[in-house]
Amino acid sequence: MAKRILIVGCGSIGERHLRCLARGELAHLTVCDPNARLRKRIARDYSVPVFAGMKEALASGPFDGAIICTPANSHVSIALTLLPHNIALLIEKPLSTSLAQLDELKAETLRTGRFVGVAYVYHFVPAVQAAREFLRAGSYGKPLHVSVVSGQNFPKFRPAYRDIYYSQHDTGGGAIQDALTHLANTVEWLIGPTDRLFCEAAHQALEGVNVEDTVSVTAKNGRTLVSYSLNQFQSPNETTIQVHCERGSVRIAPHEQRWAFFPFGAEQWDDRILPVAQRDDLFTAQATAFLSGLEGKPNPICTLDEAIQTLRFNLAALQSARTGRAVRLADLSFE
Ligand SMILES: NC(=O)c1ccc[n+]([C@@H]2O[C@H](COP(=O)([O-])OP(=O)(O)OC[C@H]3O[C@@H](n4cnc5c(N)ncnc54)[C@H](O)[C@@H]3O)[C@@H](O)[C@H]2O)c1
Repeated sequence: MAKRILIVGCGSIGERHLRCLARGELAHLTVCDPNARLRKRIARDYSVPVFAGMKEALASGPFDGAIICTPANSHVSIALTLLPHNIALLIEKPLSTSLAQLDELKAETLRTGRFVGVAYVYHFVPAVQAAREFLRAGSYGKPLHVSVVSGQNFPKFRPAYRDIYYSQHDTGGGAIQDALTHLANTVEWLIGPTDRLFCEAAHQALEGVNVEDTVSVTAKNGRTLVSYSLNQFQSPNETTIQVHCERGSVRIAPHEQRWAFFPFGAEQWDDRILPVAQRDDLFTAQATAFLSGLEGKPNPICTLDEAIQTLRFNLAALQSARTGRAVRLADLSFE
């Protein structure tokens, strides 16, 4: 039987989830968002029930699952409102903007036994999945050095960036919490968690905001050295992750929908192209995985523990940029 899914917050990413689920007729959908103009348009375009608040939406339930698509500072409190209704959750990234109430969230997840995952969508990029499988098979040995280089002209993709969560750290804004977090999570998914990092971050170019749009991080994940270089103003929309191991290298270029491997002694990269027809396909795959998660089936969605680890990365990077000091993630305290 089709599952009943509530989408909480129907701005940019909420509408994408709605569109992907509606197109595949994957579930019965309900939406809630306090923005009246938006509600009117969503009700017209998608013919789904739309409510102003969660309370009214919940009263129209029951729901099997919910996708939380509000600004990051509200994710945990919304999750803690939904879980007691036995609703499984897919929470947009980043999980939060602080470590507050995470113990409660973990305890409530355990108590209800509901599936809770976080929507780090790189887990659904076929090139990332294939490279991860290859690395985990272990023929190249241990990863020793990872370099991540990434950038895009953010205003081109999000013209309203000044007016949304992006403009403030408190609501999940800035390059670290908005963009770098995807890559930190991907690297952790590929090679394991970050232990410590040093971060330089600056506002270099984007007009109308003061948050950082440019970041350099040097990190250590176990014995692997990792470097990240990212900005949100360059014209090329490109991301490259290189993982250099004991016996060879792996390269992932999601913008080219390819990954490649290069064993020691070879002369060139051996490329594999894994086409994704449109960006929505990644979100459809994630939504399908969420529906599997609801039924207790295995799926590659970022787990709550993995997302808490990446949240620690975000907070450590912000703290390091602020203080000019390296930060051990284990030393982060509740802020
Ligand atoms: N995975 C991705 O690729 C991706 C892309 C964009 C955004 N995001 C993440 O998704 C989240 C939302 O981003 P966005 O770009 O959609 O922001 P947005 O500003 O476009 O939309 C947020 C919506 O949430 C609504 N809202 C706020 N408080 C609410 C509440 N208590 N209940 C119901 N609705 C509420 C707002 O009215 C707004 O319509 C952020 O955490 C962001 O980092 C992820």
